Amino acid sequence: MDNSTSKKVDNRDHFKSRLGFILAAAGSAVGLGNLWRFPYQVGSNGGGAFVFVYLIFILFIGVSVAITEMVIGRHGKSNVIECYGKYNSKFKIVGWFGMIASLFLYSYYAIVGGWTVFYIVKAISGQLIGLSTGSLGTLLDTFFHSPLQLMIYQIIFLIINAFIISRGISGGIEKYCKVLMPVLFIMLIIMAVRSITLPGAMKGIEWYLKPNFSKINSTVIVSAIGQAFFTLSLGVGSMVTYSSYLKSKENIPKTSISVAIFDTLVALLAGFVVLPAVFAFNLEPTTGPSLVFVTLPHVFSQIPFGTVFAIIFFVLLLIAAVTSSISMLEISTTFVVEKAKISRKKATWLLTLLIFIIGIPPLMSFGSWGHIQLAGKNFYDLYDYFVSNITMPLVGLFGTILVGHIWKKEIVMNELTSNGTVDFKFKNVWYTLIKYVIPIVLFLISLQSLGILKI
Ligand code: PHE
Repeated sequence: MDNSTSKKVDNRDHFKSRLGFILAAAGSAVGLGNLWRFPYQVGSNGGGAFVFVYLIFILFIGVSVAITEMVIGRHGKSNVIECYGKYNSKFKIVGWFGMIASLFLYSYYAIVGGWTVFYIVKAISGQLIGLSTGSLGTLLDTFFHSPLQLMIYQIIFLIINAFIISRGISGGIEKYCKVLMPVLFIMLIIMAVRSITLPGAMKGIEWYLKPNFSKINSTVIVSAIGQAFFTLSLGVGSMVTYSSYLKSKENIPKTSISVAIFDTLVALLAGFVVLPAVFAFNLEPTTGPSLVFVTLPHVFSQIPFGTVFAIIFFVLLLIAAVTSSISMLEISTTFVVEKAKISRKKATWLLTLLIFIIGIPPLMSFGSWGHIQLAGKNFYDLYDYFVSNITMPLVGLFGTILVGHIWKKEIVMNELTSNGTVDFKFKNVWYTLIKYVIPIVLFLISLQSLGILKI
């Protein structure tokens, strides 16, 4: 490493401890994807069969791509664009693609983040518990069709994030995640115990865990891979950016595996919170995105201390959403701070303003812009499709091609094993997977998502 590089490295902030980094990365991974998206994906995709395919993808594709992104980030020790372009400047475009997608992702993620704030306010003021499913539906409907209300809650959410991120890596992200992530986990366990001890919960547990293999089809497979990328925060540059702040001696494989295990546990726990309760009360698991927002409050109102459980749950949802979205904002913050040489604080607030503006079309698609559609999708659906179904698999694909085929094997292995100080038993399996298997699988999925191929 030459002098100028090491100087640059020294000037950058770092995660102070390994645990701090793991919790921050886990905080990025664990989000609305686990607590809101995962249960309704299971619900809409046939229960146990989806869970089975999803777990296989996490194990063979998710973990390998996560390791790849951490290798790219820590080796690059810079913003996401420089990291991807390190040995071949053509690959900078991959970083650009990921970073731009992260702005779009954050803009609509913050809308759902705002919903959690709205529900906390409603739960605390006692307006959520005791309503029938119908009245809850009306409450949600009114909320959804009022862009002004949506906007107010989205802004509150954006401000919380900007406040944390403007305080930097070790002082902000690491400090908050260290406290918030364990609290989240403990709260979830309490909630899951409450749910699985409800009378009639057994039916739900069985439906959730017992795979009916005949239900596995191309939709289930495509949804499962999308969920795997989304939930591990892959394909937009979050993991690359966070790892760029990781010290050279830290153990990348162990860290990625710990994050994936923690993330999967939280998703499975969320399933235990939501699905047994849905079945215990004879409700529909297939209602889609509204499952958590409409069904659970109804469930809460029928159990003792429902208000307390509702408040806990929606606070959980907010915590999870915040620790994820700060990792989305950090991608462009790191870039702007390094390129425009302005302060972190200024960069954070300017980007927050930009994201707010980008978020106006999806926000308005819940109201009067709902009829503006392209290929049957309104702005909100288009943003989500562009990010989750197109960008994430493509950035993942080019990341594996970069590390597997452009980088010299020696450089890759040195970074992976922290210059030989870290032992990773599966290093050759991982290398074969990212060099041959994963690019082919992701290529086929990308063709599918771009509409070029129909499985
Ligand atoms: N993994 C986060 C979740 O499950 C979402 C996310 C995606 C965060 C990409 C950062 C980058 O909610």
